[in-house]
Amino acid sequence: MSKKGLIIAIDGPAAVGKSTIGKLIAQKLGFLYIDTGAIYRAITWKVLKNNLSVNNEDLISMLVSKTQIKINRVSSNSLKDYYHIFIDGKDVTEEIRDPKIDQNVSQIAKLPKIRKQLISLQKKLAKEGNIIMEGRDIGSVILPYADIKLYFIASEEERTKRRYKELTAKGYKIDYKEVKKQIMKRDEIDSQRKYAPLTKAENAVLIDSTEKTIEEVKNEILKIIKKYKENGKK
Ligand code: C5P
Repeated sequence: MSKKGLIIAIDGPAAVGKSTIGKLIAQKLGFLYIDTGAIYRAITWKVLKNNLSVNNEDLISMLVSKTQIKINRVSSNSLKDYYHIFIDGKDVTEEIRDPKIDQNVSQIAKLPKIRKQLISLQKKLAKEGNIIMEGRDIGSVILPYADIKLYFIASEEERTKRRYKELTAKGYKIDYKEVKKQIMKRDEIDSQRKYAPLTKAENAVLIDSTEKTIEEVKNEILKIIKKYKENGKK
């Protein structure tokens, strides 16, 4: 348990609702919310902009060492606009959601050198406490000392439906089957990589959101937090 405040780690596969729920809980509790996927996406954005191969670990590592990444909470209360991510001063919040990033991000995220470089940034971001951090290796590697660890799951079909809806609402012309393929491919790479793979930490609570509304999942988690606090742990 952190002396400075509660630390909540959320992990799980792609398009499972981690961000939606994470932001809602953070808003409710007044916590800082950190989406670590956005960091890997921002690096991928820069790699593609520089026309580097996603397999060139040394060049990407050099690029990362010269890159400044910032996550800022903005004053807006809207969940859509909850935080902005900047790379070398440029706001890339929207651009990192492009399907092109989805297609490449896991290749970069599996490179050990890159993960090592980004670990210290993520640990630093979490040092204040009263945070929710979300990703793939948060409960296992980044914040193994988190007070509450949650691991989200949902069926492949449900996750595809949600991501498809999200992308088409933004105006992307994308095939349903392609969305499913990309999600599955990312999960495969993320869970099979050697270094810090997607995994459920031993003491993480499993949250299956397949047949639940956002409100139901939110309430389930708020109950877990309440129970944790009542047990005198914080
Ligand atoms: O969470 P999101 O789907 O935006 O993450 C994008 C990608 O970033 C993941 O598919 C994964 O390859 C990588 N990632 C990671 N470790 C994290 C968060 C994200 O490898 N902690």
